[in-house]
Amino acid sequence: MTRAVTAPRAFDLGREHGWEPLRVEGALPADLRGTLYRNGPRRFSDTNAAHWFDGVGGVAAVRLGGGRAEGAVRLVSTPEVDADRRGRPRYGAFAAKAAWDKRLAVLFGRRGFKNLANINVLAWQGRLFALYEALNPLELHPETLASLGESTLGGALRNGFQAHPHRVPERRATYALGMNIGPGPRCTLDLVELPDQGPARRLTTLPLDGVREVHDFAVTERHAVIVVPPLSAPAWKVALHGTFAATVTWDEAAGCEVIVVPLDAPARARRFKTDAFFAWHWANGWELGDGRIGLDVVRYEPWTGPWLPPESVVSGGFPPLAAPPGTRPTLWRATVDPARERFELGPLWEAARCEFPSVAPSQVGARHAATWLASASADGGPTRDWFDRIARVDAETGEATLFDPGAGRFVGEPVLVERAGGGVWALVMVDEPAARRTHLAIWDGERPGEPVARCFFDQRLPPDLHGTFVAAA
Ligand SMILES: [Fe+2]
Repeated sequence: MTRAVTAPRAFDLGREHGWEPLRVEGALPADLRGTLYRNGPRRFSDTNAAHWFDGVGGVAAVRLGGGRAEGAVRLVSTPEVDADRRGRPRYGAFAAKAAWDKRLAVLFGRRGFKNLANINVLAWQGRLFALYEALNPLELHPETLASLGESTLGGALRNGFQAHPHRVPERRATYALGMNIGPGPRCTLDLVELPDQGPARRLTTLPLDGVREVHDFAVTERHAVIVVPPLSAPAWKVALHGTFAATVTWDEAAGCEVIVVPLDAPARARRFKTDAFFAWHWANGWELGDGRIGLDVVRYEPWTGPWLPPESVVSGGFPPLAAPPGTRPTLWRATVDPARERFELGPLWEAARCEFPSVAPSQVGARHAATWLASASADGGPTRDWFDRIARVDAETGEATLFDPGAGRFVGEPVLVERAGGGVWALVMVDEPAARRTHLAIWDGERPGEPVARCFFDQRLPPDLHGTFVAAA
């Protein structure tokens, strides 16, 4: 077997390391103590990566406290990632093509795709997990970031876990989706509850109309709301094409299915159809008090898949596309009336393309004050411009306040940490392509000027996707 060795790509993480002091500019807030964990695709060489999403996951962490900042970064290790690295890559991924034996495995409901663990992190009951899509979470050591193996969370998960759990403080529990694909055309979605204390459990299993991509959902204090887009990838087609990206089709006429699950009576889910739209990420959901549910979402218009063409990674270029050519993700608000089976959607903030929404952790599942997003200052149709502003959009007025990281710098998802006296710290990883370095910017959520502090890694970390903050005990 020949080993497919590729030259290091510009996107590759240069160096893995344990905790090292980070150079700090400004003053670290005394009340900000804990660890920020960020995950994203960080290694592309020696793989069959054909797209940004195909990179091997790498968790970067910044530990804050006592006036100091320390950083660590480590790539994940899973059996498929390691097997691919040892020999000719055979496992499939988003656009990475599976070898024929792995395609056959997909057809028979076995693993033909690799767990890249490159999308998000979950902190739960003192444990840390790197999350992927439709495969189980990879447990990491919270101190060393070493990979400890896939977990079923005590048997609550079957063969899949989606990348966007949501902790609802009112319920003292985190809710997540598990995707079970195959064998054959079967696909079900598990709604899983991860309480702050005690074992995880499956609340319900929802059969889907074929293999669908459901990246994220919203949870209120009483309901989970899952919108299933008409984005399908049957296993036989995945086996034929060998990748998800080459397989997936959008059926506009089929519309979206809206599934509203009462968390305390999950067998009584309401399901109905609405017009087709696509969203990766839901900002939040909340009860309106009259049986209806409010939802904020980053909505794509129109669907023009396949999204995020691969050349940005193959060429090693940056930034990757912030959106599919011709699409414009913006912040919208939905009102769901499960009793009348109605779903109404209207724009909330359309001034700029945006993604990676988040709200203050204490407000998840309830009426939130503001949605924070990464947004793009350049606009106008097809564009390659990555996100270069953080936007705080007032949930009542739709007015935006912009936080500027500086010229030629790019940002991703803001992670919010609440302050004892009210307000938030916004933690944002800032990519500086020209300086070939990455820093963590910490903004006072009420002051859109300069960040109060910047913590510099001594290298450029490949841009990431999602993360979380774990407060110090
Ligand atoms: Fe995501």
